[in-house]
Parts: sequence; structure tokens; C-alpha cells
Amino acid sequence: MDEEMRCFAWRGDVLHLLDQTRLPQQEEWLECHSAGDVARAIVEMRVRGAPAIGIAAAFGVALAALRAGAGDSSELMAAIEQAGQTLVQTRPTAVNLAWAVQRMQARAQALKMLDPEEAALALLQEARTIAEEDEAANRRMGMLGQALLPAKASVLTHCNAGALATGGYGTAVGMIRAAHEQGKEIHVFVGETRPFLQGARLTAWELQRLGIPFTLITDSMAGHFMRQGQVDAVIVGADRIAANGDVANKIGTYSLAVLAFAHGIPFYSVAPTSTLDLSLSDGAKIPLEQRSPREVTHIGAVPVAPEGAPVAHPAFDSTPHRYVNAIVTERGVARAPYEESLRRLVEEA
Ligand code: MRU
Repeated sequence: MDEEMRCFAWRGDVLHLLDQTRLPQQEEWLECHSAGDVARAIVEMRVRGAPAIGIAAAFGVALAALRAGAGDSSELMAAIEQAGQTLVQTRPTAVNLAWAVQRMQARAQALKMLDPEEAALALLQEARTIAEEDEAANRRMGMLGQALLPAKASVLTHCNAGALATGGYGTAVGMIRAAHEQGKEIHVFVGETRPFLQGARLTAWELQRLGIPFTLITDSMAGHFMRQGQVDAVIVGADRIAANGDVANKIGTYSLAVLAFAHGIPFYSVAPTSTLDLSLSDGAKIPLEQRSPREVTHIGAVPVAPEGAPVAHPAFDSTPHRYVNAIVTERGVARAPYEESLRRLVEEA
């Protein structure tokens, strides 16, 4: 992991992904030589986080184009179409994935008249641009979002919405970083985020490297600390935001939003506009991924439940917009009524 903390690197003609299933114990990089390798890495959560899986998928499309070789343009387009179909099926909730694949496919259409090798190189450049734009958006959101925090604040975050989940810098963690960089006195409660433990394994790892003071808590402790007056704001990312401002994010986000509401604590979602899905009227229409029961019955390789225990494992939930005080995007901070404010942000682009 470099100083800037990026979870991907393009070397030679191979995509390298920092294997997030190994953190924090090991910093291991996984090589992806094909779109299929990238799709597998996304399914297995070796790369995760809405913007990061979109970026990985964009590089996956570029890999398909590069591997298609020097045939004719229709072979190239077929390879891109096939790769896109495989990649969008990997995880259903984060809209950034389909957004990035569609952007790559549109670019491929525009490049159709070029020699296939030149077109493949231009697609690789497009994937790089998507990643760079995401990091720039995060830095902008960070600055806009940090202005919502007082000079001294203790905030709570959930899952990992940091550099590891994005093109760099982070969304929710980006807002926290920006506040810290502005000299604000910030402390972070990090919810461990059962069952995959993105908070404990990834956010704690990032904050430690950044030197931002934090306290790791189990998810069930959040209400206790809110009631004690120790939480000034809840700051989370998003996987998909519907037109009415409902926010789909990591399972447990909804509980935190209701708790924050009950305690009069502001709840912020920080996400780039690539996470908005204004084609869906509300959060009930957002597909929520169901993951393997094994992630609930085991922590790593260790079983924590009796064999055969019935399990439910929705990996995401949807938080109604009435619990969301603001949605911070790179184009501005949206507030209720979200139908209007989000649409304005998209239309003014
Ligand atoms: O299942 P994950 O780890 O991909 O879920 C990630 C989240 O829910 C994040 O909060 C969200 O993608 C925003 S990341 C900037």
C-alpha cells in the first residue's frame, strides 16, 4: 500500500488489487489478468466498497479489450460486451459497478472506428480516468463535508468508506480526514461491522495509518455511546441512493440512523454522484445483496454458531431519507427535499 493508500495498481498489463480479505494481518496483492479474474475478486470481496468495485470493473473491461488482441472491431466489441455482462452480475447493490461498466461501454462505442489495439489503450486510459475522478471527487466531498463538523467532534462511522473502498482518500472517511487535516479535533467511533468486519479490519487499519484518533466498538455499543452524549455525528458512505434520498449502505446503517434520529444526532451520507440512482423512486426498489450464511456462522475460519443454525444475511439495508440530515456529494451538499436537491445536482453538471 503506498502512502496515498490506494487499493489498486496497474503494472505492465496487469491489474493488482490489495486483497482486502487478508487485511489487517497481511498486505497481499492479487494479480488480475482478465475480466474474469476481476469478477472473481469482486465476488470474493478481495476488492469491495461501491466506488472501488466500479473502478475494478472498469479495469476489467479494459483487460478484456487488451486481451481481445488485434482482431477486428466487432471481436473487440463482443469481448467488451461479454466482460461487462460478467462484471455487472458480481454484486447487485452498489450502482457504481453498472455505472462504470456502462461508461466503459459507451467509450468503446465512441472508439469503434479506431484500430482495436489503439481502442484498447484508450479504454485503459478511461479506466484510469474513472479512478482519478473518483479520488478528486472524494477530496472535494471531504472539504464540503468537513464544514458540517464543529472544531471538536466525536463521530461514528460504519463499515469502510475509506481509501480502500474508493479510488483514493475515501468518502465518509474522506470527510473525517479532511476535518482532521483542517486541524479539527476529531475522534472516531468505528463500528466493527459484523459479519465481514470492514470496520474492525479496514477502517481501524486506515485510521491508524492516518494517525486519526479512534475507538473500535462492537455494533451493539453504538446506542450506548450516543445516549451518553459521546457521538456528535454519524458519517457513512452509500452503495446506492434513490431519487427520494433513501440510502442503501452496509447492513446496520439503518439501525444507526434510527438511533441517531432518536438522540438528535445528525446523520450524514457521503457519496459521489456515481452512487446516485435517480431512476429508482425510493429505497424499497434498491436490490439488496444476500450473502453466504458462512460469513455469519464463522469469523474467518472459526465457527461461532452451532452447525446447521438457520441464518439470514442481507449484506445491505436501506435507510429512509427522513433519517438523513444531508447527502454530501462532490457537486454539493443535498438536503431534504431530496427529489429536488439531488435532481438539481445531477442536472447542473
Ligand atoms: O460489502 P462492502 O464492503 O462492499 O460494503 C461497502 C459499504 O457498504 C460502503 O459503506 C459503501 O460501499 C461506500 S464505500 C465508499
